[in-house]
Amino acid sequence: MKFEKNPPDAASLMMSARSFGNYDLPGALADLIDNSIKAGAGEVALTCDFAGGAPAIRIRDDGHGMSGAELRQAMRPASANPLAERSPDDLGRFGWGMKSASFSQCTRLSVLTRKGKEMSGCVWDLADVDGWRMGILEPDEIAGMASPDLLAKNGVEILWSNCDRLSENGTLTVSEFNALVVHARNRLALIFHRYIAGEVRGRRLVIRLNGQKVDPWDPFYRDHEATQELEPEPLEIAGRTIDIQPFILPHYSKRTTGSAARRAFSGTRASMFIGTID
Ligand SMILES: Nc1ncnc2c1ncn2[C@@H]1O[C@H](COP(=O)(O)OP(=O)(O)OP(=O)(O)O)[C@@H](O)[C@H]1O
Ligand SMILES: [Mg+2]
Repeated sequence: MKFEKNPPDAASLMMSARSFGNYDLPGALADLIDNSIKAGAGEVALTCDFAGGAPAIRIRDDGHGMSGAELRQAMRPASANPLAERSPDDLGRFGWGMKSASFSQCTRLSVLTRKGKEMSGCVWDLADVDGWRMGILEPDEIAGMASPDLLAKNGVEILWSNCDRLSENGTLTVSEFNALVVHARNRLALIFHRYIAGEVRGRRLVIRLNGQKVDPWDPFYRDHEATQELEPEPLEIAGRTIDIQPFILPHYSKRTTGSAARRAFSGTRASMFIGTID
């Protein structure tokens, strides 16, 4: 047998990556926030700008940022081996999240970062990836694109432009866009509620959306007097014990606020995992 190279076609592979993971807008933002948490960020600022019908979305964090070499590695599709040993607090695994989450929403992904004195910026544009060519931004281009916060301190700023997947048919009115942003805020408040409330390793994460702090939404209503906290139930999985903490949620007549969807869970039993699952 002899061997010959048979690499994937760049444009086709990147187009298929748009459908990996079945993301919606909050799911895609959550994958980027996972990376920010892993990078030790205390704050993630999201900016969703309708921009007269050409929406652009920015996600900036104040984590440790990346060197130029680290950024190039991070931009690679499948940048990590899923079988590689990872630290227990690493929320990533496949080396695809940042790329596939971004391309699920937009066709041009720019990543700017500052680590110490080094600032770097790279761009994948799905309209121009033949031969895996990636854009490397010049210092003046980075300075023109980055927010003042990134220019001042370490972190990462991700820009999504040509967001063609925010609606099914490619057209989007300003009120549809605003509804999407409100939906994203509610979902992020739920997904990251324990991080925002400072319950994970004692670190509090601030998420801002268009300048406004996102408040945590605790699906267990633990601070409500009518919520019943039941005895934790241990569960053995592969030689390890996970505690499951059940709650009975308050009946909706005991609550004055909440959407119809939230009220629908009233009086039901909800559980939370405490501990880590490998
Ligand atoms: N905000 C960030 N700050 C610092 N480094 C980052 C940031 N975002 C991504 N990275 C680096 O880029 C790498 C690639 O990120 P990506 O989300 O594509 O894959 P992953 O997190 O390794 O795995 P997964 O596919 O499960 O998300 C990360 O492992 C991390 O090293
Ligand atoms: Mg990731």
